[in-house]
Amino acid sequence: MSAALALRDRVFCREQGVPKREELDGRDGEAIHLVAVEQGVVLGTCRLLIVDKTVQFSRLAVEPAARRRGLATRLLIAADAEAFDAGARRLVLHAQTYARDLYLANGYEPRGHVFVEAGIEHIAMEKRLA
Ligand SMILES: CC(C)(COP(=O)(O)OP(=O)(O)OC[C@H]1O[C@@H](n2cnc3c(N)ncnc32)[C@H](O)[C@@H]1OP(=O)(O)O)[C@@H](O)C(=O)NCCC(=O)NCCS
Repeated sequence: MSAALALRDRVFCREQGVPKREELDGRDGEAIHLVAVEQGVVLGTCRLLIVDKTVQFSRLAVEPAARRRGLATRLLIAADAEAFDAGARRLVLHAQTYARDLYLANGYEPRGHVFVEAGIEHIAMEKRLA
């Protein structure tokens, strides 16, 4: 958990300039955290908050040196399985617009208009599980 939080801090706060108080929103204790681990090192992470039959997916971060190797894609696949096992049938997220293709390729569809959150352009996306 501490390695996942440290990775999020590096990626969101230092790399992207998201304020710490927004990154740490107080909901980590109630969430499922997934990690991508290679040789004992956490290289990727994401977070699932389950609300009724919907999973709120967020905090997807991959170590810069490990990007474009499919780790985020594998975390999204693992998130689908976790969500399904937890009884959820829908996942929702706020995608940074530059990463939209990552989510489109994994079955997410855009919903609504582009908006700014934590100073970064986002778009709402959702995916239904069969
Ligand atoms: C976005 C992020 C999680 C992607 O992780 P990753 O492990 O590199 O992603 P994958 O290797 O699974 O990428 C799969 C596909 O997503 C798309 N994608 C990934 N990173 C992208 C980028 N920087 N720009 C545009 N498309 C991108 C591409 O279509 C990619 O396929 P390709 O490599 O064959 O072109 C990673 O860049 C990251 O941590 N960024 C900083 C934090 C962040 O923006 N989180 C997402 C919030 S919505």
